[in-house]
Amino acid sequence: MSVAVIITAAGSGTRLGADLPKALVRLAGEPILVHSLRAACASNVIDHTVVTAPAGHLPAFRALAAPFGAVVVPGGETRQASVAAGLAALPPDVDVVLVHDAARALTPPSLFVDVVDGVRDGRRAVVPALPVVDTVKSVVPGGSGGFERVSATVDRAALRAVQTPQGFERALLERAHAAAPLDSASDDAGLVEALGEDVWLIPGSESARKITTPWDLGLAAFLAGSPS
Ligand code: CTP
Ligand code: MG
Repeated sequence: MSVAVIITAAGSGTRLGADLPKALVRLAGEPILVHSLRAACASNVIDHTVVTAPAGHLPAFRALAAPFGAVVVPGGETRQASVAAGLAALPPDVDVVLVHDAARALTPPSLFVDVVDGVRDGRRAVVPALPVVDTVKSVVPGGSGGFERVSATVDRAALRAVQTPQGFERALLERAHAAAPLDSASDDAGLVEALGEDVWLIPGSESARKITTPWDLGLAAFLAGSPS
């Protein structure tokens, strides 16, 4: 019985626009991937770590992952395919799997602990989430001339923005991935929901926000206390 984390790092980082895969971009002097590996390791609740990497960059990722005892596997075309590749590389004794975006570089170690505790307590899919602070509107598809027409204001009180690490009973996550059409959900909990199984939210962390754009990288560098 052991806990594994799959750190998804196989994306290219198109929206960040660097000349390196996003996980290799430096934040406060170290690659984003190293921040994520360190946080997972510092939680003391992880027994095995698998990193998904862009197929063309395996040696660089392996060099960064080795000090953490992490295994690196090539990812897929989509995040969902990368997680499936990570699942296929897990040792047999793993019964709890966390899936974590490398891009959430400043995730506090305590969030890994909270998610594992939730799964060990018997909730088979546990996801950190934050309330939505902005007013949210839906729009009519296909705007024109820079304008989009509003169709409705969504009830913000009923919305949550979800984060990672997302934690699952291994058998449930494997069943969800096996049943999922290609690229059918942007997170793993969505695949579990598609099976009709319960997903449970716990309080997330502002620090676990994902680095997606140059603005996010600048903010993370500020929060990490050093220029990027
Ligand atoms: N990811 C992955 N395999 C993919 C796509 C994404 O492992 N085929 C990982 C990314 O490396 C990232 C996480 O999933 O850590 C969340 O994805 P996202 O923030 O969208 O990262 P990218 O896909 O790299 O960025 P972009 O969408 O801007 O290209
Ligand atoms: Mg992406």
